[in-house]
Amino acid sequence: MNSVKVGICGLGTVGGGTFNVLKRNAEEIARRVGCSIEVAQVAARDTNPKCDTGATPITADVFELVSNPDIDVVVELIGGDTIARELVLKAIDNGKHVVTANKALIAVHGNEIFARAREKGVIVAYEAAVAGGIPVIKAIREGLAGNRINWLAGIINGTGNFILTEMREKGRAFGDVLKEAQDLGYAEADPTFDVEGIDAAHKLTILASIAFGIPLQFDKAYTEGITQLTTADVNYAEALGYRIKHLGVARRTGRGIELRVHPTLIPADRLLANVNGVMNAVMVNGDAVGSTLYYGAGAGMEPTASAVVADLVDVAHALATSPEYRVPALGFQDAALSAHPI
Ligand code: HSE
Repeated sequence: MNSVKVGICGLGTVGGGTFNVLKRNAEEIARRVGCSIEVAQVAARDTNPKCDTGATPITADVFELVSNPDIDVVVELIGGDTIARELVLKAIDNGKHVVTANKALIAVHGNEIFARAREKGVIVAYEAAVAGGIPVIKAIREGLAGNRINWLAGIINGTGNFILTEMREKGRAFGDVLKEAQDLGYAEADPTFDVEGIDAAHKLTILASIAFGIPLQFDKAYTEGITQLTTADVNYAEALGYRIKHLGVARRTGRGIELRVHPTLIPADRLLANVNGVMNAVMVNGDAVGSTLYYGAGAGMEPTASAVVADLVDVAHALATSPEYRVPALGFQDAALSAHPI
C-alpha cells in the first residue's frame, strides 16, 4: 500500500489542526509508517481560516464522504452524538476504519459502535477523545497492559482547569475566563459540558473502561461541575494550603468500580495541584508499576490533532503491515466487574 486515503468530517478547531499537521509533517509520517497518509476529501459546512485545504475536494455532505469508495479511513470530528453516531455506524458498515475525537460519542454509544466494528473487522480509534494530546489511552492499554489497575485520577477537562487557574492566579471572573476558553477553541460547542463536568465524565467513562475492562457506563458516573465555585472558595483553599482541582477519579471498591467527577481540595505541593491552565494530567496506579503520571495539553487545535494523527498512523501501520492486526478496541470485558452508582 503506497498511500492510506483519509476523509476528514468537520473542519473546526480539531479538523483544521488535523489537516495542517498531516500536511506539515507528511514526509516525516510517511517515513515512519512506510506509506503516505493522504487527505482525499474533507466534509465541512464552513471553511476554516486557519487551514488552507488547497486542491483537496470539499463536500458539505458528510454522508457523501463516508460512501466515497476511495476513502480507507473516516476521521469523525463533527462532535455531538446523534449525526456523529449515524455517520460512524455508516462508515463502519461501508468497511471504513474510523478515527474520532468524540468523547460523548464513545462514552454514550461506544458499546454499540465497537460491537459493530468487531463484526465488520474495522478499527475504531479514539486517542484524541481523552486528554487532548496526551497519549494516555495508549499508555494504559499498551504500556500498563501487564498491570491490575487499582485507580486512576486526573484533571481531564482543559476548559475547567483553565478557568480555575485564572480565578486563582488573576482573580478573574468565571464567565470572562469561560468566554476566553471558547475563543481559544478549548470549550465544547455547548460549554455546559465543560463546566458541569459532563465532558470529564465522558472521558472518565472511557478511561475506566480501558483500565478496568468494564463496559462503557457513563450513566454510573457521579458528576459535579465547577459552576458553584466562587473566587472566594478558590482563595480560601489557597490560604489553607490547598488548591481546588476538578478531578475525575475511578477506583476499585468492594462493590466494583467507582466513577466520580467533582471539585477536590488537593494540598498545594502535590503534582496534580500544580497542573495549570489548559494542561491535563492523569495519574494511573497499577499493582506492578505503582503510580505513573501523564501530562500535557488537554485541549486546543494542534495538541488534539496530534492524537488524531497518531491514531491515523496506527491505522496506516495496521493496513501497511498485516491485515489481521487491529488496534485493540474497548470491550475486553470482565463480566464480574461493573461501575456502581455512588
Ligand atoms: N472541551 C474539552 C476540554 C476539549 O476543555 O478539555 C478537549 O477534550
